[in-house]
Amino acid sequence: MNLEIDEDIPIVWLDIVRFNQIINNLVSNAIKFTDKGSVTLRIKKQKQNKNNVTIHTEVIDTGLGIPLDKQETIWEAFTQASSTTNRLYGGTGLGLPIVKSIIEAMGSKVHIESKMKEGSRFYFDINLKKATREELLKTTKKEYIILKGKEYYWLKIIILMLWLECKY
Ligand SMILES: Nc1ncnc2c1ncn2[C@@H]1O[C@H](COP(=O)(O)OP(=O)(O)O)[C@@H](O)[C@H]1O
Ligand SMILES: [Mg+2]
Repeated sequence: MNLEIDEDIPIVWLDIVRFNQIINNLVSNAIKFTDKGSVTLRIKKQKQNKNNVTIHTEVIDTGLGIPLDKQETIWEAFTQASSTTNRLYGGTGLGLPIVKSIIEAMGSKVHIESKMKEGSRFYFDINLKKATREELLKTTKKEYIILKGKEYYWLKIIILMLWLECKY
């Protein structure tokens, strides 16, 4: 598992519970459908201006891959790429529909690039409003948690737990 997370992401407003759901679903799929090679989570600052920052997120694996004719349908609820997927890997086919609807609610779109037997890449950009230090101090304990580059510690723990759950 490779983690490539920008250190210089400014403090932003982000619904961390929802963002977590996206990462959880994409990373657990990547781990589940990959038995050789690697899984990479990359979170990069794309661009920023005075008030906003665009964050690019991608989850890349070297696993099974998804056939071209399934790359549209897997976004629908209860849909898996093949009729053997459930038997071999379990799952309900609800992860990606959740990912799609959260990303759309955040005003963006999720993309996929995949080749059979080579791997898959799921990626999206989200535009976030910057927050100030004062806002950070005022709100960290409320419903929104503000995310800062260096404070991705929790993410590493969650991914480690997912990894252990899937592999053992
Ligand atoms: N990283 C991936 N590599 C290969 N296939 C994937 C990957 N992510 C998703 N898929 C395919 O898309 C389907 C739908 O994914 P998802 O909605 O998360 O359902 P589930 O994981 O419960 O099967 C999966 O069943 C699988 O066929
Ligand atoms: Mg899933």
